[in-house]
Amino acid sequence: MRLKYRSWALPYLLSHKEVVFDRPDIDTPEFLSLFAQPETMLEIGAGKGDFIIEMGLNHPNQRFIAVEKNLSAAAITAKKIVENKLSNVFVIYEDVNNFIKKIPSASIQKIFLNFSDPWPKVRHHKRRLTSEHIIGEYARILVSKGEVRMKTDNVNLFNFSIDNFRAYNWHIRYLSYSYDGKDSYDAISEYERNFRIDGVAICRLVAKKGSKTYVTNPTPTPTV
Ligand SMILES: C[S@@+](CC[C@H](N)C(=O)[O-])C[C@H]1O[C@@H](n2cnc3c(N)ncnc32)[C@H](O)[C@@H]1O
Repeated sequence: MRLKYRSWALPYLLSHKEVVFDRPDIDTPEFLSLFAQPETMLEIGAGKGDFIIEMGLNHPNQRFIAVEKNLSAAAITAKKIVENKLSNVFVIYEDVNNFIKKIPSASIQKIFLNFSDPWPKVRHHKRRLTSEHIIGEYARILVSKGEVRMKTDNVNLFNFSIDNFRAYNWHIRYLSYSYDGKDSYDAISEYERNFRIDGVAICRLVAKKGSKTYVTNPTPTPTV
């Protein structure tokens, strides 16, 4: 996502600690308590936050945490949370690879990956948000029968993700190369809206953690 730099972004994030967590906050009791609520959902790579804001508005009794490494995008999401007076939506402004190991085990119900960066070059595949390096961590932080819900326009990334989930014994309970957008537990992100206007097919999968899903992965998370 190419976003122009917003000079207000950093001061805004720093002055809204009630909804924003960044690198120095990780590991604090406040950070850990984020994950203490039973129905907690995580979106990784939330962009400008349209998806997570709509989910937060539609499901006020659930908690939604947006992870975003881009400063301007994280600040735009934080601003939408504040303006909508949402007390159930939070932002972590940090690369997920730098803190996912700090998220408590079995604390997340669903992980959303919406239009993740495709990293087309083979030597960059390990940076994909469905690479084997990270899906072992997803299995650890998800509750039993927790799910990863993924949408993308990129068929190559989609097929790579299907292969990885299957290789690590996830159960793919929904799979479509032309998702119609009609799941009631979903929302439209900015990318999805633009793709639908342009007639681009949306791929979607829901991968469920099973009793035999690999939970730990010996390969270290790559630095990006
Ligand atoms: C293509 S955009 C999609 C944004 C949004 N999900 C949507 O559908 O409109 C991908 C976003 O993921 C973020 N991102 C990519 N890798 C990330 C990572 N490792 N940790 C946190 N955010 C990441 C990028 O900064 C970017 O904002």
